[in-house]
Amino acid sequence: MNIRQIISQMTLEEKASLLSGFDFWHTKGVERLGVEGIMVSDGPHGLRKQDLEADHLGINESIKAVCFPTASATAASFDREVLHKIGSGIADGCQHEKVAVILGPAVNIKRSPLCGRNFEYFSEDPYLAAELATGMIKAVQKKNIGVSVKHFAANSQEHRRMASDSVVDMRTLREIYFPAFESAVREGKAWTVMCSYNKLNGEYASQHRWLLTDLLRGEWGFDGYVVSDWGAVSDRPKGVHAGLDLEMPASGGVNDRLVVEAVRSGQLDEADVDLAVERILTVHQRYLDNAKPDTVWDKEAQHVLARELAADCMVLLKNEDGILPLRAGEEIAVIGLFAKKPRFQGGGSSHINAFKTESLLDALAGMPGITYAQGYDIVTEEPDETLISEAVENARKAKKAVIVAGLPDSFESEGYDRSHMRMPNCQVELIRRVAEVNPNVVVVLYNGSPVEMPWLGSAKAVVEAYLGGQAVGGATKLVLFGEVNPSGRLPETFPLKLEDNPSYLSYGGEGNTAVYSEGVFVGYRYYDRKKMDVLFPFGYGLSYTTFGYSNLRLDADNIRDTDTLTVSVDVTNTGSVAGKEVVQLYVGDRESTVFRPVRELKGFEKIFLAPGETKTITFTLGKRAFAYWNTQINDWHVESGVFDIQICRSSRDVVLSAPVTVESTVRLPVHYTMDTLFMDLMKDTRAVKLMQPLLDAQSKNMGTEAESDAAKEAITPEMAMAMMENSPVRSSISFGDGTVTREQVLAILEKLNAL
Ligand code: BGC
Repeated sequence: MNIRQIISQMTLEEKASLLSGFDFWHTKGVERLGVEGIMVSDGPHGLRKQDLEADHLGINESIKAVCFPTASATAASFDREVLHKIGSGIADGCQHEKVAVILGPAVNIKRSPLCGRNFEYFSEDPYLAAELATGMIKAVQKKNIGVSVKHFAANSQEHRRMASDSVVDMRTLREIYFPAFESAVREGKAWTVMCSYNKLNGEYASQHRWLLTDLLRGEWGFDGYVVSDWGAVSDRPKGVHAGLDLEMPASGGVNDRLVVEAVRSGQLDEADVDLAVERILTVHQRYLDNAKPDTVWDKEAQHVLARELAADCMVLLKNEDGILPLRAGEEIAVIGLFAKKPRFQGGGSSHINAFKTESLLDALAGMPGITYAQGYDIVTEEPDETLISEAVENARKAKKAVIVAGLPDSFESEGYDRSHMRMPNCQVELIRRVAEVNPNVVVVLYNGSPVEMPWLGSAKAVVEAYLGGQAVGGATKLVLFGEVNPSGRLPETFPLKLEDNPSYLSYGGEGNTAVYSEGVFVGYRYYDRKKMDVLFPFGYGLSYTTFGYSNLRLDADNIRDTDTLTVSVDVTNTGSVAGKEVVQLYVGDRESTVFRPVRELKGFEKIFLAPGETKTITFTLGKRAFAYWNTQINDWHVESGVFDIQICRSSRDVVLSAPVTVESTVRLPVHYTMDTLFMDLMKDTRAVKLMQPLLDAQSKNMGTEAESDAAKEAITPEMAMAMMENSPVRSSISFGDGTVTREQVLAILEKLNAL
């Protein structure tokens, strides 16, 4: 199909009509020209296809589908392969159901544990989010289904989400909030990108030309189409010019007419309309040419996969006295409503109509020695004495108590943010009371975002299962009984308390303005720099075995910023059971002129090791691993100096470290003026030479050459030097006692700037 030629046959009205949806989930076609519309559906962790009544909040029923672990859980896998398998499974469902584009993955950064949609997002770390999302995108699109990477950009809160203005500085955007989108586009070749509801630095994302055109297309090479989040359009003609191709859902024809009028009045170029139509039809044609509705969607097989993957996502946070794994046949009191009715996904547009669910109790059916008590309810936070007493009685008689707890649906959802990080009182009280009668308490958590754990001392073991999809119960059993060795690592820091979080003072914003005032210091980048105690650090997680690290090797001690560095390390399973380890590589700049985190994740690999087995892991680091975003040159920049390459068990636990010296090949442009401080001049050896007369005059005046004893006492040479460094060049004239003239200084500056 020659899309351009077809567009040339369309009327302006027909073209404008293609720029918004036909209904909630379908795009329009132009029948007379044989142009077909397609269907899109929500992801990101399953297929939410609504055949009948449509909505964007997961209210009305969708077709029965498979709910895979949510991103909160899959991020903890630290395993690209997990996302690959989920992407592939969802794509099969899409092909079978004739859905051309799946609305996901969602890659917004977890700025605060309070964001209601954190369960749909991957991490506080941009590299982890980028790698995992890109893994999923490649798998989906390999099957000729498009993704829609969302929500572009800086959409890290639900509060006032359709009006809030995220005020974020450029360096922070580049280093924290953009990389996952950048990777999705550059590496993943995402077919579509969904713009967010919010404004970014004063302009709605849906009409932000720099964001949707200059950056996304101009810089990153995006060649798909941008779709609005559902209802995100404010000024449609402006959006078309900005690069927002498709408005969803339907505009009822209103915005289509505005587009036509804008073209007729000369306010909008028809070429912008043509371009948007071309982009939309090109992507849709890619699907239509490769549609395979006879694809088998084997839900039962995907359920088994969902269980296997959920087990790989679970994070063992604590395991005192090796209380886990449990042994079959032990007397175990299983407690908690979630053991029977698991919470495995979050509320809102991602809510899947799971074709079946598997609870821990289902998975334990038939196993001797198991009792069950509900322990708490989710309709109220109030402890229920009858439920607690029953649980306590069961726990008293058992060898171990497994309490399945977490957050009820109402505590976290799309559409609003949490106001605190606490678990319901009834669950906290339950854990406390059970621990009074049984010292062997295991807590399993089903939640989409970190919680405070005032009860941690009452539990010998804690398993963070996150929102693990429809088979989470079976997966929980696999991990608890050691059939799967837990290998998840926290994709976010668990602070001791909410107030410790770097965004605490400004999260949610004032009115419609949300200033991201902590800048690049999001998550562990902040806690580590502050040396703050946290409950559990980023990257943390235990195993039923132990791993040893040795032999960290860099292929060079010195590199230029245009080179790559190869890093390898040997990892050995030093325990007695097989298991998977997440090898984490961080890079830290020892000295920097800009504020930088202590270390940042720049590589990770998940590997399986049999007991005693050793594997060598190799990482390749390019410029980006060392660079920060320099706002002067508007580019990534590496400052010459020593960087530490660190292999860590978490952002807090450095196992091996080796230095590398990186030399910058880019000299930042400098322009010296009368107002330049001497300290900046003195960093430049060329400048020091030329400026010597000025430096002499200045140092004399500042007393570095003080002669009398009294003067020497009043100001030490160090003090004088510090004062001089903090003075501008022009002060050599005013304080130079007539020895330096303005003409002289200007001449030197001119020479210097011409070098
Ligand atoms: C959500 C999107 C979702 C869309 C369609 C919006 O409310 O923000 O993530 O894809 O609805 O349901």
